[in-house]
Amino acid sequence: MDFNQIRQFNFPTIIRFGAGAIKELAPYLKKEGFLNPLIVTDPQIAELSFFKIIIQDLKNNGFSTEIFSDIHKNPIKSDVYKGTELWDATNRDCLIGIGGGAALDVARAILLRINHREDLFKYDDLIGGDVYVINEVPHFITIPTTAGTGSEVGRSAIISDDITHQKKILFSPKLLAKIVFADPLLTMELPAFITAATGMDALTHNMEAFLAKNFHPMCDGIALEGMRLVSESLENAVINPDIVSRSKMLLASMMGAIAFQKGLGVVHSLAHPLSSLLDTHHGLANAVNIPYGMRFNIAGFEDRFGRMAQALNLKNTSGDSVIQFLFNFLGYINGYMKDLAEFS
Ligand SMILES: NC(=O)c1ccc[n+]([C@@H]2O[C@H](COP(=O)([O-])OP(=O)(O)OC[C@H]3O[C@@H](n4cnc5c(N)ncnc54)[C@H](O)[C@@H]3O)[C@@H](O)[C@H]2O)c1
Ligand SMILES: [Fe+2]
Repeated sequence: MDFNQIRQFNFPTIIRFGAGAIKELAPYLKKEGFLNPLIVTDPQIAELSFFKIIIQDLKNNGFSTEIFSDIHKNPIKSDVYKGTELWDATNRDCLIGIGGGAALDVARAILLRINHREDLFKYDDLIGGDVYVINEVPHFITIPTTAGTGSEVGRSAIISDDITHQKKILFSPKLLAKIVFADPLLTMELPAFITAATGMDALTHNMEAFLAKNFHPMCDGIALEGMRLVSESLENAVINPDIVSRSKMLLASMMGAIAFQKGLGVVHSLAHPLSSLLDTHHGLANAVNIPYGMRFNIAGFEDRFGRMAQALNLKNTSGDSVIQFLFNFLGYINGYMKDLAEFS
């Protein structure tokens, strides 16, 4: 480890976390002087009662709301263009994303497109497109309704090409939310199969971030605590959800996404093409790969696996015991994820 090298660590997002945090949204908008939000969500969430209550609450408080929900399960470029057209056509002053990773990614991509009108994929991070993200972006607020991607605290959006389905990553620190309202009550009705799959995404983020080679001891600490929270709460959140398990999963999800600024690994590298080619849910794609990807990672990282085993509260601290834990853990929730195959 070279301690003469200068590094940068970023943890900039304000997170209002806790049961009922959503009630702070209207007072916050008023305090900041915003009256006309564009709200981005997905078509299923738009029909759920908690979403309707949020919108009604905003209307009761005198806000003019426009809702954009015309998006795909694995969002595509034309979703982003349509949402931006609604922004252009209505007189909006801020952007609110409410939903899981899909809705929040579309919201973030619209945020980028509002003041960056080249082809969306010119900003693809893989080809260095982040350097073109130079203009200001509107005020952005995120409200998660799943506990998995942690996209609410992220700075990237995953959007697929309409025709090739190839996933592109739009990335810029400018795309961070100014504030997150993380209310576990909004996740209480999340169906078991989505809870299971999104929870496995959160576990994968924490484990892969911890193993990523970059030097980031702060992210390492967050990732270890994140995986501990998943190990003690995901089963309950799936099988017998209560506010404690839902709260811990929401925290673990945000911690995973904060930690993976350090990097991800082979499990996500395999999950992305699975989702692109077969439209598999992102969390499910991670879940089917994680035991095998982690086994592939053990050699040379025995010490790190030992620390993960401790965080997961395993008696044996060998790499193999972590793999066995993953197979057992998936065994508890697998039956629930089967429903996702039909969902995808
Ligand atoms: N930006 C990032 O850092 C990042 C990281 C990982 C994944 N992703 C992306 O996130 C997406 C997956 O996100 P996800 O796992 O959150 O799933 P999702 O957003 O696809 O949501 C899954 C389903 O759950 C429903 N749902 C959401 N909240 C609900 C609630 N509270 N109650 C009932 N139903 C609810 C949705 O309508 C949807 O049908 C993928 O597109 C993936 O590419 C982004
Ligand atoms: Fe992920």
